[in-house]
Amino acid sequence: MREPLLAVTDLRKSFGALAVTDGVSFDVHGNELHAIIGPNGAGKTTLIHQLSGNLASDSGKVRFAGEDITKLSMVERVRRGLARSFQITSILDGFTVIENAAMAVQARSGSSFRFLRPASKERRLNDEAMAALARVKLDDRAHRRAGSLSHGEKRQLEIAIALATGAKLLLLDEPLAGTGHEESAVLVALMQELKQTHTIVLIEHDMDAVFALADRVSVLVYGRLIATGTPEEVRTHPEVRAAYLGEEEAA
Ligand SMILES: Nc1ncnc2c1ncn2[C@@H]1O[C@H](COP(=O)(O)OP(=O)(O)OP(=O)(O)O)[C@@H](O)[C@H]1O
Ligand SMILES: [Mg+2]
Repeated sequence: MREPLLAVTDLRKSFGALAVTDGVSFDVHGNELHAIIGPNGAGKTTLIHQLSGNLASDSGKVRFAGEDITKLSMVERVRRGLARSFQITSILDGFTVIENAAMAVQARSGSSFRFLRPASKERRLNDEAMAALARVKLDDRAHRRAGSLSHGEKRQLEIAIALATGAKLLLLDEPLAGTGHEESAVLVALMQELKQTHTIVLIEHDMDAVFALADRVSVLVYGRLIATGTPEEVRTHPEVRAAYLGEEEAA
C-alpha cells in the first residue's frame, strides 16, 4: 500500500500537568481533505502547531512525504511542502496583495532563484505570486493594499501565501472563523477546488462545511482522537454523537 503523505504517530504535548494532545495518531493521504473537529479546547490548534513545527512535541513521530520530520524546524517543513495558512507568513497590511504573495515565493525559492539576473528574478517572483493569487481568485486585487481587503479576502490571501510557498499539504486552522455567509461560501468553493491539487488538513467548527468538503473526519476530544472515518461514519458514531455532535445539535 502507498505510504500516506502525512503519518502522525502517538503525538503528545503537555502544558504543565495538562495533556493537550495525548497520543494522537492518524494519517492523511495525498489529495485527501482530512478534517479535524472537536470541541473548544480539544487541542486542535496545538496539534496544528505540532505538525507545522511551531511547537516541539514532547513525544511521538511525524512523517511527511516519506521522511521523518519530527525534529525539523518550521522553515525546514515549509521547504518540504508543509505549510500552515496562518502564522507561517502572516499578512502585512502595509504591503500590496501581490507583495505579500511574492514574499512567500521568495521564502521558498530564494536559493533556487540565486542565479537569475535581478530582472528575470523579479519576473519569476511576480509570475509565481500572481499564479497563487489567481488560484484563490484574488488576482484582480493584486495591487491593492492588503490592509484594504475584506475579512474573507484576507483569508483567501492567507491561503494564497501558503500556496506561494509551494506547499503540497495545507494546514488550515478555522479558515471560516469570523466570515459572513457569502465569504464563507467563497472559501468553501475555493477549498473544494484546491482539493483537486492539494492535500488539506482542515480544522473547522462549521459542520456544514466540514461534511461538504471532507473525505475523512477525525474527532479530537480532550487531546485524544475518538474516531476517524468518512463524514457519514463519524456523523453516526455513537461516541462522537455523545461527546460532540449531539451536544452541538442540542445547542
Ligand atoms: N501555550 C500554552 N500554554 C498553556 N496552555 C495552553 C497553551 N496553548 C494551549 N493551551 C491549552 O491547551 C488546551 C487546548 O488548546 P487548543 O488551542 O489547542 O484548543 P482548540 O481545540 O484549538 O480549541 P478552539 O476550538 O477553541 O480553537 C486549552 O485548554 C488551552 O488553554
Ligand atoms: Mg483552535
